[in-house]
Amino acid sequence: MQKSKNVVRLEHEEYSMNQTAIEVKDLVKIFRKNRQNPVRAVNELSFQVQRGEIFGLLGPNGAGKSTTLKILTTLLQPTSGEVTILGYDVVAQPLDVRKQICVVLQENAVELHLSVRNNFKTFGKFHGLRSKEIELRTDRVVELFALQSHLNEKGMDLSGGLKRRVQVAKMFMVDKPIVFLDEATTGMDTFNKRTTIQAIREESRKGRTIVLTTHMLDEAEELCNAVAIINHGKAIAKGSMKEVKSMSLRLISLSLTFETITPEVLESIHRHKPFKVEVKKTAVEITVREEITALDILGEARQTGLLQHFEVTSASLEDVFVELLDKKESVA
Ligand SMILES: Nc1ncnc2c1ncn2[C@@H]1O[C@H](COP(=O)(O)OP(=O)(O)O)[C@@H](O)[C@H]1O
Ligand SMILES: [Mg+2]
Repeated sequence: MQKSKNVVRLEHEEYSMNQTAIEVKDLVKIFRKNRQNPVRAVNELSFQVQRGEIFGLLGPNGAGKSTTLKILTTLLQPTSGEVTILGYDVVAQPLDVRKQICVVLQENAVELHLSVRNNFKTFGKFHGLRSKEIELRTDRVVELFALQSHLNEKGMDLSGGLKRRVQVAKMFMVDKPIVFLDEATTGMDTFNKRTTIQAIREESRKGRTIVLTTHMLDEAEELCNAVAIINHGKAIAKGSMKEVKSMSLRLISLSLTFETITPEVLESIHRHKPFKVEVKKTAVEITVREEITALDILGEARQTGLLQHFEVTSASLEDVFVELLDKKESVA
């Protein structure tokens, strides 16, 4: 039989696109530290991840991302609900699940007393790889994550962002079909972030499924094919990146650059009740729901005589997010 192009052989099974890799159904996690105040960290959450996808679990701090990820990776028991990973149930078949996955948690760190090279080596050994294989894979991962010049540095001597890059790189030493990354790029500078994002994308092209959490929406926008946006443990939007972004079609972003920003300028903008205003040096980024509001704001900005430049764009994922949260808050 002819194999389809997007079928890649990984260690555990034939791996093809467009099949469900992860199914999460009505997931609930309640933390009961004391009887009075149980915390509902995950609240009837459902979503699916397709094989080969880069899936983003997005939401503000405290939304329940890490808790969800820990349940999906068998590190935490759910209170109720169902999760299957490549068909294996996380509660009934945790060992089978673990064979399919690797995970970088928010709190994970590199081995501080080992060199970068030996970090890779021990990880490979732990996963039962032979020495020759470890060498080959180290070379590949070092190239992919551009770590050549750091191989002999010790974990403890690396910057925070670089430690994180090495930690993520380690996961790609082994051929697990699903990789979970919790806030993998948090705290990375631009170079670390760029290199890591490129490497993750490259790995996903080979057919791996990647599930990442982040509160950095621009990063998700760049990387993910599909997302679930969660808040208070519940999904408030989910779907392909295109679908979720299309929720923002009605939203308009206006960027105004002024000679200087005076209190009067800001006051006139705020009078139109835009739902997002951000001041960046001499520029003001504004998001509004109606085209007419954008035009009114622009008109008044011109009248100040201080306007140097303007730009109208469609809204970003961040704008969708702010609007969704905004709506929920006003309903609550
Ligand atoms: N072990 C725990 N015990 C009690 N509460 C917890 C525990 N872990 C997380 N929480 C609470 O659950 C909620 C979700 O946390 P978390 O999943 O870490 O969110 P996120 O990763 O989106 O920032 C928060 O209110 C947090 O304080
Ligand atoms: Mg977290």
